[in-house]
Amino acid sequence: MPGAWILAAVLLGAAGAALGFWFARRRQRNLESLRSRLVAVTQSSRQTGDNIAHDLRTPLTRLHADVETTLRSEDNEAHRATLERVLTEIHGMQNIISALLTLGQAEAGGMPVKKRVVDISVLLEEILELYGPSAEERQLRLQGRIAPQIQVEADRQLLARIFSNLLDNALKYVPANGLVVLSATTKGGEVVITVEDDGPGIPVEMRDKIFERFTRLDSSRTLSGGAGGSGLGLSLVKAFARLLQGDVRAEESRLGGAAFIVTLPAATAGSSRPAP
Ligand SMILES: Nc1ncnc2c1ncn2[C@@H]1O[C@H](COP(=O)(O)OP(=O)(O)OP(=O)(O)O)[C@@H](O)[C@H]1O
Ligand SMILES: [Mg+2]
Repeated sequence: MPGAWILAAVLLGAAGAALGFWFARRRQRNLESLRSRLVAVTQSSRQTGDNIAHDLRTPLTRLHADVETTLRSEDNEAHRATLERVLTEIHGMQNIISALLTLGQAEAGGMPVKKRVVDISVLLEEILELYGPSAEERQLRLQGRIAPQIQVEADRQLLARIFSNLLDNALKYVPANGLVVLSATTKGGEVVITVEDDGPGIPVEMRDKIFERFTRLDSSRTLSGGAGGSGLGLSLVKAFARLLQGDVRAEESRLGGAAFIVTLPAATAGSSRPAP
């Protein structure tokens, strides 16, 4: 049956060629996807570098002009006032650098995470109490709608940093007489904590971008005296939530402003012992 053998050989050859072609296409697609990921990472680190340079250049230029003018003066009071401004600017720059280092460490997975079962209901009530006086000072109503005894397995300190950042923002960007609500509940195996307000909100096209380093909305909307922040707080919130196997997203609140929704896995029966 030489005909059958020839046919089998031809079919085998064709199958081999098709397989070879398929592997080559798959390799090419993998290489293309790797290349576009590399391009994206390079662009993003270049953008971050540009932003750092920009954010540090502004205070440095101010410092330079301030010190130069003061050096021409003999007035001791003026020297003292300049030194105080220099100290404030240095403090601001140190904060930016330390936030960037923390972010880098958190995103690279190099940050120590001390996970314990935490009663997040108690923690959130404590945070609410802590922010009460600042809210009052800014003429804002701060309310809690926190279900009792919600347990998560997480690092207490990271949790506190997540919700302090979100409340800091609400207090900073919501105009006087506004409302800020912190709520917590469980849904399936997930704990859902929301910080929402009736302030200006986040435009839909910025709701993902807002978590990227140095992203700020129009500075005219900054109500904290014009200076605003460095645009790193929400990047830290995202990095910390992910370190705890959770996430955070921005949506429109039922109150009309911004809603920041943090999801975390609920503690299970096998979770480690509660924090003392
Ligand atoms: N609750 C909110 N309502 C309206 N805009 C908000 C709210 N929270 C954040 N934003 C906007 O998102 C931007 C980014 O917030 P993020 O916390 O990352 O930085 P920041 O507050 O500017 O500085 P910092 O690094 O000090 O936190 C803010 O500049 C602000 O424009
Ligand atoms: Mg902030």
